[in-house]
Amino acid sequence: MSQLRRLDRRGFLKSAGTTVVLGSVGAKSASATRVLDAPPPPSGTPPQPNQSYDFDEIYDRSGTNCSKWDNVRDRFDTEIEVAMGVADMDFRSAPCVTRALAERCKHENWGYARRPESYLQAIVDWNQRRYGLEINPSTLQWSTGVHTGIIAGLMTFAPPGSRVLLTTPAYNGFYSDLRFTRTVPDESLMRLVDGHYSIDFDDFERRARRSNVFILCNPQNPTGNAWSPQELTRMGEICLEHRVVMLVDEIHCDFIRSDAAYTAFASLPNKEIVDNSITFKSASKSFSMSGLKVAWYFSNNRDYLERIGANSRGSLNTLGVEANHAALTEGDDWLDGLLPYLDGNHEYVESYVAENIPLVKYRKAQGTYLAWLDVTDLGERIGAERTAAEERANSGTEVTADEIVQRWLVENARIYLNAGSSYGAGGAGHMRMNLGTSRRLVERALENMAEALANA
Ligand SMILES: Cc1ncc(COP(=O)(O)O)c(C=O)c1O
Repeated sequence: MSQLRRLDRRGFLKSAGTTVVLGSVGAKSASATRVLDAPPPPSGTPPQPNQSYDFDEIYDRSGTNCSKWDNVRDRFDTEIEVAMGVADMDFRSAPCVTRALAERCKHENWGYARRPESYLQAIVDWNQRRYGLEINPSTLQWSTGVHTGIIAGLMTFAPPGSRVLLTTPAYNGFYSDLRFTRTVPDESLMRLVDGHYSIDFDDFERRARRSNVFILCNPQNPTGNAWSPQELTRMGEICLEHRVVMLVDEIHCDFIRSDAAYTAFASLPNKEIVDNSITFKSASKSFSMSGLKVAWYFSNNRDYLERIGANSRGSLNTLGVEANHAALTEGDDWLDGLLPYLDGNHEYVESYVAENIPLVKYRKAQGTYLAWLDVTDLGERIGAERTAAEERANSGTEVTADEIVQRWLVENARIYLNAGSSYGAGGAGHMRMNLGTSRRLVERALENMAEALANA
């Protein structure tokens, strides 16, 4: 029996926030040494390059009102060993973030904060340094999250009842943004060849003619596609020609495989198509701080900025800004340590699934920490379609085959994944697995899945 199985999870839960460190994991990244329990260096200490971090640590988030773990554990009767749904990571945040928050907490007043110029500069420098993207700081605007920014964009450029173009499968949160703004999805189904998605540009253009807005996700959630300059340019040209405003969500851009590349839409050389866009970003996913609610958007198009500004009221979260500022000025080294670790997680899943789980297919994503698994054969093996049809007939509620697969995995493999059908057209037959966690938990999830299927 492995170490993980021997863990008493109840004891684990009681001591919320407690660290559990297991033995070292096979394919370890450069992150071997435990440094996070070391006393923090005095404030003002410059970032320490080439520090190593322990991403193998299993950092227990349960019992902290954490959406990813606590929600699903409350929802099902079965004990869930690995929660791999909601897109945030289980790692401790970068030490520089925790240090900055601890420092700010010494001042015990939480009144309104002003907009610090140094934070704007930190965003500009991060994008310049890491992606060669030049952002004019005077065009940067706050939002409490990428959702709030996108909703403001939809309210501005897509009147209720109008069509919004999505390339699908698409992030399920976009559908809730559309419901919120009473707009209608126009789904351009992507082509899937050998596990790789590409845009059907004829279909895309046909739909662009009748849409007001296109939400581009780069890299794409859930498929992980990192769009090439050619693909971005083609999407941009079509949108410009048909007067479709582009809302560009690049929240996952910090997560790119070492053999892939992220091209910021706003860095394209064609100024006209860039001027037809607003880009939304955040460091929230990148540094395990999505609950701190800080994001930003920018555009070279002053008219667009003025118009969207009339529909958005960006407020500042004092601690969020401190955390973001620290991450963007001192967090490169931590993120640079994390990226190969996440590459390793994706590679591990790709090879383990190919060798041990013939009913599932996975081709390594180019970006994000999300794995988009093809579970069509698994669904067939467990009769998911038939069960869903029976449940629909008996209960009158909408149940999809993927939701049956989801439940089956909870009950038989004690893992929680997101059902593909919630990602719109083309999502059926898939599950989204969040790999932003310790390798040990990824291994455990796959072992559980293989074992469950061997008995299915
Ligand atoms: C593509 C994408 N956009 C936006 C969000 C949500 O961003 P925020 O929490 O900043 O509103 C997510 C979260 O999963 C996401 O994956």
